[in-house]
This record gives sequence, structure tokens and C-alpha cells, in this order.
Amino acid sequence: MKQVNVAVLVSGGGTNLQALIDAQGKVIKNGKISLVISNNANAYALQRAKNADIKTAVVLKKEFATQRDFEEKLISILRENDIDLIVLAGFMSILSEYFTSTYKDRIINVHPSLIPSFCGKGFYGLKVHEEALKYGVKVTGATVHFVNEIPDGGKIIMQKAVKIRKGDTPEILQKRVMVQAEWKILPASTELVCKNILKEKN
Ligand code: GAR
Repeated sequence: MKQVNVAVLVSGGGTNLQALIDAQGKVIKNGKISLVISNNANAYALQRAKNADIKTAVVLKKEFATQRDFEEKLISILRENDIDLIVLAGFMSILSEYFTSTYKDRIINVHPSLIPSFCGKGFYGLKVHEEALKYGVKVTGATVHFVNEIPDGGKIIMQKAVKIRKGDTPEILQKRVMVQAEWKILPASTELVCKNILKEKN
């Protein structure tokens, strides 16, 4: 295997997906983003994928009777496309142990806080920054970690700290955490994991 086949799972705007696309061939040399799956048909991330000529798929949870059926559909698409690594980039749906154990050590996620602070069930998107500001922390940041059956509980791959500034709103802080941390450590972690997968296989 020359390059790791990477799928990115998204739900929304897809700025982290964009950071991955922009890093392709630069920071990301050992992986190829070949598929983007969204659980939201209106996600702007789908347009970003199309603009970069990356294959897309939409899988809506409401079209499946159970979580298991939803995850089986995701797995069948991932298998059809020979995916070796799954990157969750703003994917707002918790995956069960069935899914995470099928892709053990092959799923990574970016979370907009320094885990173990402000993470786990219910902590996603802007809510994470609202809680960090409410608590009054002076430093926050982002974490990339492996995904297991515990929400935000897998082994940490990279973290980057970001300082809180006077006058920060959740929106201002979210943007700073993205620019200074997420958009850097997500591509860097993707490359690191791809490199290690290739080392194992060759
Ligand atoms: C990002 O800040 C990401 O870290 C967060 O959602 C945002 C998605 O933005 N993810 C979570 O909160 C997961 N628990 P994007 O669609 O522009 O990449």
C-alpha cells in the first residue's frame, strides 16, 4: 500500500474538512482523502468535497430503523471504497461500540477543547466554548484523539492550547480555536496516523 485511503465524516460547514483538503500533498503525504460522508444532506462540507473532486455520500439516520442499521450502511459504503482510516471532522453523531470496534484504532476525531475538559456526551460545537467561557478557564484548545466506545474517551494523539482573551464570545473563541489549533492538529494527526498505518502494513 502506497497511501492510506481516508474517509472524512462531516455534518456541517466543513472547515476542518477544508483544512484537510488544503493539506493534501503538503502536510498529508501518506494519506489520500477519497471519500466524504455526511449525515446531513445540506452540509456545506459536501460542496467543499465536490469542489475538490472528492466522492461524496449522504447517509441520513432518520432513514434507518435503528442505530445499528445506520452504522451498517456507513460500514458498507466505507468497505465499498476500501477505506483504511476514518476522520471525524465535525461529525455530530455518536457512533456505537459496533462501529468503533469494527474500525478499532482506525477512527480519529477532532474535539474543540483540551480533553478531558468540556467533552463527552452533549459537548459539541459552540456549546463547548460556551461552557469553557462560563467556567472561566484561561486556556482552552483542541484535541485529536482515537475514537472508541466512550464519547471523546479514546487515546489522545495531539493537543494544542489556545488562550482565552478578554471580550471573547463563544463565536470568537470557536473561530480562534479552529484557526490556531484544529486546522493545524487535525491534518498533522491525520498524517501521523497514516504514516503509522503504512509502517504496520509494509
Ligand atoms: C469543530 O469545531 C469541531 O471541532 C467540532 O465541531 C466543529 C465543526 O466545524 N466538533 C465537535 O464538537 C465534536 N464533538 P466544521 O464543520 O467547520 O469543521
